[in-house]
Amino acid sequence: MKIVGIAGSPRVGGNTEALTSIALDEICKEGLETELISLAEKKIDPCDGCGSCRKTQKCHIKDDFETIYAKMVDACGIILATPVYYGAATPQMAALISRCYAHRQNRPFENKVGGPIVVARRAGQNFTFAQLMFFFMIQGMIVPGSTYWNVAFGREKGEVMNDEEGLRIVRNFGRKLAWLAKKLNS
Ligand SMILES: Cc1cc2nc3c(=O)[nH]c(=O)nc-3n(C[C@H](O)[C@H](O)[C@H](O)COP(=O)(O)O)c2cc1C
Repeated sequence: MKIVGIAGSPRVGGNTEALTSIALDEICKEGLETELISLAEKKIDPCDGCGSCRKTQKCHIKDDFETIYAKMVDACGIILATPVYYGAATPQMAALISRCYAHRQNRPFENKVGGPIVVARRAGQNFTFAQLMFFFMIQGMIVPGSTYWNVAFGREKGEVMNDEEGLRIVRNFGRKLAWLAKKLNS
């Protein structure tokens, strides 16, 4: 059983990666395999709306998407984490989500577990959380709760580690995700 955590920040070693690792560490402690995938330094172009995927069930754009997508399909759970950029998910994360449209008819994520994690400096976190939830809901995935929404605050690299409540929420989310994955896959 493997859970992948996808950090959608273009900044290497930033707050989103740190928070995603914290959730994955908890999942690892529960005995599940984990992998952190950072979208920093990856090339994922946005969907160009050509519509050919409705016939072929494949995206014609050749970049890093297919490799990441294959890991998402292979996993039993997916965490999508993003910093807030202008009140929303990063372009990198939005591109990943929109490219998954290509395979929607196959319902490849049906009944997998998952959930969002959001990092903000000050505002836009609730909208961004909801934006990521649209992905999990339309894909027929199952999302566990936590003690609060999975949001933490920080601006400079590593600052999020000072948000003790945010860290507690994300750790709890990781434990609940592992619990749910084990229940559903036993
Ligand atoms: C282009 C850009 C736009 C941003 N927009 C927002 C915003 O709308 N709201 C907010 O609270 N923080 C905003 N931030 C701050 C980031 O969300 C914050 O620094 C976050 O910790 C970055 O995560 P990272 O270290 O994983 O890259 C923005 C940062 C950048 C670079």
